[in-house]
Amino acid sequence: MTDHSERHTVDLSTEPPHLYGRFRRDPLMRGLTGIRKVWFPFWGALSRVRDGAADDGILTLDVIDREVVAHDENVIALTFAAPDRSVLPAWFPGAHLDLLLPSGRMREYSLCGDPGDRRSYRIAVRRIPDGGGGSIEVHDGIRVGDSIQIKGPRNAFPLVLPGFGSPARRLRFVAAGIGITPILPMLALADRYGLDWTMVYCGRSADSIPFIDELRRYGDRVTVRTDDVDGLPTMPDLVGPCPDADAGLALYCCGPVPMLEALRTHLADRDDIELHFERFSPPPIENGTEFTLRIASTGQTQTVAADESVLTALARVDPAVPYSCRQGFCGTCRLTTVDGDVDHRDSLLTDPEREAGWFLPCVSRCHSDTLTVDL
Ligand code: FES
Repeated sequence: MTDHSERHTVDLSTEPPHLYGRFRRDPLMRGLTGIRKVWFPFWGALSRVRDGAADDGILTLDVIDREVVAHDENVIALTFAAPDRSVLPAWFPGAHLDLLLPSGRMREYSLCGDPGDRRSYRIAVRRIPDGGGGSIEVHDGIRVGDSIQIKGPRNAFPLVLPGFGSPARRLRFVAAGIGITPILPMLALADRYGLDWTMVYCGRSADSIPFIDELRRYGDRVTVRTDDVDGLPTMPDLVGPCPDADAGLALYCCGPVPMLEALRTHLADRDDIELHFERFSPPPIENGTEFTLRIASTGQTQTVAADESVLTALARVDPAVPYSCRQGFCGTCRLTTVDGDVDHRDSLLTDPEREAGWFLPCVSRCHSDTLTVDL
């Protein structure tokens, strides 16, 4: 008697008998099984690598160029590429990278190269001696040939082109100092599309502003104003010629907070002008009140003044407290609260995350007298 059940208990790692019932193994199935035996374990391992990379979103790139791009030598441009020089994730003007520095700091830098170049990324960094240490680490610690870990690109300052999603008819770019970095690729794109655009570029002095040589190719579309020669710019200097109504203008601006706030106020009742901006420092704190910050693990307390962030108060306790954007959109500074009536002011966390106690100390505050955080 033949036991037909045996066939159904055959180990799936062996190929089945001949497709047409012969006793010899079917050559086609033997070939397919062989491919599966070799390929599946390899594919599984490859998938884990691929999924891991997608999960943490971190890329390790080579530093392939380092160039001083301001005459005072305080701004450097760094160019990165994949170790095998393969194609990198695409980006659009206004995007930035998160740099994961060897010290553990994470810092965001706008991409300022050519988005059409899919094999390299370029950023620029101004040395800030009295900052949080990130720019010093980049200037003094990163050299051509080093590896650097990045996340991104991400875009919180997208350029919407007239005729391609924006009703504006012309573009005005306003950059101050290192604020030129997200604007540079916008200029290149506007130029490539043949759009009507102008730019004003401000800074303390001609020596301090980066990429001045690179801008020469745009001729008189770009106006350079420096405080030492021209004095501080007025709002009409920044906005440019602007009829009383129906200006059809989209303004893209990157610079210090006081300049951006002045522009916002100046254009508050101009519905015919789009204002898009990116700050490179935290926004001013509005309607802040003083409260006490308590650290659950140690019981230490700090007073958070009405005009300072919880992050600033935390940094007095732990100078290495992580942060990046300081504007409530990157999540680097995230921690968990234990007690207190939280005043969430970020644009990142979801309701379930807030209900779970997540908190962004760079912008969010507290309605109660004391806020206890899980540190
Ligand atoms: S530092 Fe980016 S969200 Fe706080």
